[in-house]
Amino acid sequence: MEKIVSLCKRRGFIFQSSEIYGGINGFWDYGPLGAELKRNLKEIWWHSMTRERDDMAGLDATIIMHPKIWDASGHTTTFADPMVDCLLSKKRFRADQLTPLTGTAWFWTGAVDSDSGKVCNDPFSMFQLPGRDANAVRKGAIQFYKGRGLENPQLQGETTKEVTDSTQYNEENGSLLTEPRAFNLMLKTHVGPVESDDNVAYLRPETAQAIFAQFKTVCEVSRQSVPFGICQIGKAFRNEINPRNFTFRSREFEQMEIEYFIRPDEVAATFGTVPDDDPGGEPQPNWGWKAWHAYWLRKRLEWYESIGLERDCLELYWQTPEELAHYAKATVDILYKFPFGTQELEGIAARGNFDLSQHQKFSGKSMEYFDEAAKTRYIPHVIEPSAGVDRMLLAVICHAYHEETVTDEKGKEEIRIVMKFHPRVAPIKVGIFPLLKNKPELVAKAREIQALLRPHMNVFYDDAGAIGRRYRRQDEAGTPFGVTIDFDTLGEDASLKDTVTLRDRDTMKQTRVHISELLPKLQSKIQSPQ
Ligand code: GAP
Repeated sequence: MEKIVSLCKRRGFIFQSSEIYGGINGFWDYGPLGAELKRNLKEIWWHSMTRERDDMAGLDATIIMHPKIWDASGHTTTFADPMVDCLLSKKRFRADQLTPLTGTAWFWTGAVDSDSGKVCNDPFSMFQLPGRDANAVRKGAIQFYKGRGLENPQLQGETTKEVTDSTQYNEENGSLLTEPRAFNLMLKTHVGPVESDDNVAYLRPETAQAIFAQFKTVCEVSRQSVPFGICQIGKAFRNEINPRNFTFRSREFEQMEIEYFIRPDEVAATFGTVPDDDPGGEPQPNWGWKAWHAYWLRKRLEWYESIGLERDCLELYWQTPEELAHYAKATVDILYKFPFGTQELEGIAARGNFDLSQHQKFSGKSMEYFDEAAKTRYIPHVIEPSAGVDRMLLAVICHAYHEETVTDEKGKEEIRIVMKFHPRVAPIKVGIFPLLKNKPELVAKAREIQALLRPHMNVFYDDAGAIGRRYRRQDEAGTPFGVTIDFDTLGEDASLKDTVTLRDRDTMKQTRVHISELLPKLQSKIQSPQ
């Protein structure tokens, strides 16, 4: 991860925000390459989720909305109390509602990974719950250090102590809790010239609520009928207690969210038996929430594959009934195997009709929908595939990072750092290299090719330094193709006139391509499933 963070800074993918002032925790800036990569990810998502579908409409709502939205969604109340987090289950508790525990507490100063030797110096403690032996307690600690990125943790500095009426532990599993903090995850501001409680507003902690609030309007103007979806890409803000793992948990981030509105199961049943699990295939009128939930999981996994995150680098985590929100029917998280642990990229939740019902209750405006086909009125249910742009970008960067040993023409071995981005997401698609910068004919031809390709893809012109070094620079930037203009291009060998060499980043092989074939060839390579 350190190598990746350093490459991100060195090559201009991601930097700390406000770095000249020492940075600000949980905020990150995207440099020239990062900005292109981010834009590509968002565009690919928007294109495939919105423009390529008949049943989807887009939305671009404001970050600050009426504060009542957050009362309806539950955000103002849920996040307003002093809270503690369980360090093992990540469950969150009200600090003032904890059961005091008396008995033996176990402490560790850290752990060492017996495979890699990696050290974690985070202290940890477990309360020994009734009926649990030492092994069960240590198991909890091992789970904790696994969560800190150690594959095979060996516990260090073990001690025990008797505690009385302690509220530092989770009574469900004995794990240490975080220190209590009175916080609200939503970032607050004031709207208007007066700072008072009457004009408090929040920076949205998710983009989803705007979709629910505008459900009726979008439904009407887009002339969509249920089942259909509304999607949105936009900034979200959370005053995270513990921003960490580079951009993974930030305080300002972007989400790409879909709220896909479906018939309640009892309405779907008017079109035939409602499938109880994944029926596969194309959507049908009798699909209930289970079929739609499975469908969206399939679609999203296919999408990840289309940007180069193949199935075997992802894992699924189905939330247990205890972890689910009270209104949710099921939630499956799509996880990526990051170097710091396997962590969530996207959640796909079946949320029932909780959100629309809440907005109906709080706004007094009907959220009911009349289904012409089913000839009935209802509040639609929803499936919510909710992804984070920044996490996705981090996963794409981690996945692309490769170090290879290569041998140059003189037989010398060197390490090649190459970012193997899928060409579709790569920030720069083609590097354009005149063999020599002091030969006006080569430069003129190279500029001509730059002008030919530029309207269609992001190109980078580089004439500085030896050609091998220029290739390496583009390998680090993840540029999948390189076009070199040499003397044969100018007709030194008449049979090769108006041809260039096309270099493939991954194989480093070069082929000669006629300039007239360059654009279609590159376009088909960029779009290919690889
Ligand atoms: N509307 C549902 C919702 O917001 P969530 O699981 O809290 O659900 C959805 O967030 C996605 O947003 C996550 O899977 C993650 O990719 C991204 N996300 C959430 N909090 C984040 C944070 N602090 N930093 C970066 N990305 C975050």
